[in-house]
Amino acid sequence: FLLYLMLLNVNKLKVIAIVGARPQFIKHFPFEKSLSSDTELITIHTGQHYDQNMSQIFFEELGIPNPTYNINVGSGRHGKQTAKMIEGIEEILLKEIPDVVILYGDTNSTIAGALAASKIHIPIVHIEAGLRSFNKKMPEEINRISCDHMSSLLFSPTKQGIFNLKKEGFSTDTNNKASMDNPNIYHCGDIMLDNSMYFGQNEHSSKLMDTLELEEGNYVLCTIHRDNNTDSEKNLNNILKALLNCQEKTNLKIVLPLHPRTKKKINQLKNQELVKKITNNINISIIPPAGFIDIIALEKKSRLIITDSGGLQKEAYFFKKPCVILREQTEWVEIVENGNAILTGSDYDKINDAILHLLSKNDFTYPPIFGDGKAGQFICSKILSDL
Ligand code: UD1
Ligand code: UDP
Repeated sequence: FLLYLMLLNVNKLKVIAIVGARPQFIKHFPFEKSLSSDTELITIHTGQHYDQNMSQIFFEELGIPNPTYNINVGSGRHGKQTAKMIEGIEEILLKEIPDVVILYGDTNSTIAGALAASKIHIPIVHIEAGLRSFNKKMPEEINRISCDHMSSLLFSPTKQGIFNLKKEGFSTDTNNKASMDNPNIYHCGDIMLDNSMYFGQNEHSSKLMDTLELEEGNYVLCTIHRDNNTDSEKNLNNILKALLNCQEKTNLKIVLPLHPRTKKKINQLKNQELVKKITNNINISIIPPAGFIDIIALEKKSRLIITDSGGLQKEAYFFKKPCVILREQTEWVEIVENGNAILTGSDYDKINDAILHLLSKNDFTYPPIFGDGKAGQFICSKILSDL
């Protein structure tokens, strides 16, 4: 039987996808679904995220096959965590010798995969290439720039991404076979839109709105996890104070699915008086990280989204919701330029002003910045033709 399986895989393109953090499991789904039968897919989970509701839940809900390998690196400082990943990934790549490695986004799992694969000359496909915040203090900025420059095939979700890549010397000529020294870059739309279109019709299967006694349009959805917001006592305080003020002034409910990093930091805050005020407020629900079906349902029915997440900013746009971005810069500049979102950082007054402005605005437009929801198919066809 094993021999039969091996024969079946001869001549197939051997693809290794590397995932590790929550948004990567989600981005992997449309790619995996779009792969043709001419490919053999192996998945490596680095173990960067490991709690049931940060990892396994997505494989179950999205119906993605369990990873072939899990390196189980767990949490740690950047250097230590990334080093462990590189070591584990390299060992697997040397054993499997894939034709191509797929990397998503800008996490430590992305940069570890890029370093491991590029040094042993395995072509890299970078999905979500070209994005820049122009703030190198963000670990993600270092990860995404480095990964782009080690890749052979780069897929940008936006035209801005292509513009950024061109400025860094990438050519838009795609007539040659793609390689690390002659990479091909493509504008393909956002792979997360594929997901939102697919799962956006499933919101009725979520029971969370009923459990939390929410009605369409009567609540704000908020997520916080960026290190700049969680690891600074001052910034986290400002954000929590602004959320409390928002609830009291607007009378909207607030739902806050809490990333484990943020939970830890809130528990360590000196200002536990503020934390108590929030937890005692019956209109603010702090809940564990939500699964994908639940979060999509929460996004679709919300009045406003407040977030520092890259993914949620875009999903807010996909579902036509205004968004307060708790960051100083964003890679998704189009949604700010088009007036759908406002950058506030962790400034208390700016957050309050942005909330009031967006709640009173009613002339939003939603041009198709992120493509047509078929990025997965496009990416898979180019991998077969260009590598
Ligand atoms: C990581 C990514 C970030 C991405 C985010 C998605 C990097 C540098 N950052 O940030 O780009 O937006 O994932 O959510 O790769 N923890 C748990 N359980 C888990 C996972 C994490 O308790 O399953 C806690 C640990 O205390 C850990 C902390 O969260 O130290 C941070 O986790 P880490 O993966 O290092 O960074 P994220 O903030 O999740
Ligand atoms: N997400 C989720 N449950 C949550 C919060 C986010 O399923 O409680 C999803 C969200 O809808 C999006 C992705 O996770 O698809 C974004 O991941 P995250 O915010 O962790 O990271 P970022 O996008 O900032 O890298």
